[in-house]
Amino acid sequence: MDFFLLKQTVTGTLALSVFTAVLGSLQFGYNIGVINAPQKIIEQDYNETWVHRYGESIPTGTLTSLWSLSVAIFSIGGMLSSSCVGFASEWLGRRKAMLINNLFAFIGGSLMGMSKICRSFEMMILGRFIIGAYCGLASGLTPMYVGEIAPTSLRGALGTLHQLAIVTGILIAQILGLEALLGSEELWPVLMGVTVVPTVLQMALLPFCPESPRFLYIVRCQEHHAKSRLEVGDMLAEMKEEKRRMDMERKVSILELFRSPLYRQPIIISILLQLSQQLSGINAIFYYSTSIFMKAGVQSPVYATIGAGVVNCAFTVVSLFLVERMGRRTLHMLGLGGMCICAIIMTMALALLDSVPWMSYISMLAIYAFVGFFEVGPGPIPWFFVAELFSQGPRPAAMAVAGCSNWTANFIVGMGFQYVADLCGPYVFLIFAFLLLFFLIFTFFRVPETRGKTFDQIAANFQSPGGGMMDMDMDMDMDKPSTELDYLGEEGL
Ligand code: GLC
Repeated sequence: MDFFLLKQTVTGTLALSVFTAVLGSLQFGYNIGVINAPQKIIEQDYNETWVHRYGESIPTGTLTSLWSLSVAIFSIGGMLSSSCVGFASEWLGRRKAMLINNLFAFIGGSLMGMSKICRSFEMMILGRFIIGAYCGLASGLTPMYVGEIAPTSLRGALGTLHQLAIVTGILIAQILGLEALLGSEELWPVLMGVTVVPTVLQMALLPFCPESPRFLYIVRCQEHHAKSRLEVGDMLAEMKEEKRRMDMERKVSILELFRSPLYRQPIIISILLQLSQQLSGINAIFYYSTSIFMKAGVQSPVYATIGAGVVNCAFTVVSLFLVERMGRRTLHMLGLGGMCICAIIMTMALALLDSVPWMSYISMLAIYAFVGFFEVGPGPIPWFFVAELFSQGPRPAAMAVAGCSNWTANFIVGMGFQYVADLCGPYVFLIFAFLLLFFLIFTFFRVPETRGKTFDQIAANFQSPGGGMMDMDMDMDMDKPSTELDYLGEEGL
């Protein structure tokens, strides 16, 4: 990214709004990562509660079930709430929906933080469910809001910040979860409750961020309010055109997304991109890394897990700088292809571990490279790509469908991986390698490039006879300064 262009384009209001919005993504990441390290310590507390109530130790099967429920109920909360993203964002508006969503984080964080004092694992489980619901809404609202306020030339880079905040959240959780910090017997409730801090910050900052001008103008028809948040007319002209088209469309429901030939292709692409993110197997690493590293013969698996978190962050930054240069399609394919090769290397290294001891290093490197390739494309791109594929009318319904697919696949991998791993041994990652190959081929044949296109141009391309996906211009001249440079100026406040 050209620094001059960046400075010109990112006004104070835009920076503040994006920063505030991605605090939600930070929470999302934190709650993905937080449950991994303190497992044993929290299980001990569940046992103590059981002894206190029933005068005997908790049966092993019951403990496993309670723990699995504590982990997985998070995705169930996300699955349910992400399907309400469309409704909430249209009814309340993007900004108010984010503001009110914080209530979930507040209640969820407090329940988890107080569960030890109250000797109640039910509170912990309910808290995980409610914080999951918060994350489900945040995973749709944040990319939608950021995509709508970002100038076209920076939509990918700013969209990637959602993922950067997620991975930062995961890393913070991994570090704070160390036993020497907050992952101890006394302090784990603080580790769980700390999630309330970004909530308070987001609630304090949101009133200073403007509502999405696209929402105000195109959906609420408040031209005056939308204009007061813009500096130049070019963006307005683009929105006017989008509104003209939208006025001709009826309101789009989730069912219509699948029925109408106009939306069928983009919604299938959106779902498959979300599936490519989750069925790549990334969360098999993030949920079970400690035991995977242990099986791979790596010494200090907890620190190796933190290493994976660092690689995760570093490569998201790489993607941030590449996404407006190389485009979404290329980076997504590069990521999927790289992950596929790493999955094969990992399988070979794990299979040979008994006869060749230094294979443990190879498997560790392969895991790091797997994570690195994920963040180049499949991590950040699916999140903001959906917002790009749809115009204002169908966007909320599409975000809901995509979000729900993502969370469902996340839940399936989270619940199923350990059983399948026990069944397949070192060959478990071959399943992901096959899936990755399938998604790579799908992306090659079906996914268009959206870099540098207005929402309307992208949507119009799907509406041309025959869909016309592949004739999208794949090589726009990104050195040309955008015409929407100063949009969202200081007056936006
Ligand atoms: C993406 C995924 C999330 C995963 C994370 C890892 O945000 O949606 O499930 O844990 O990347 O960095």
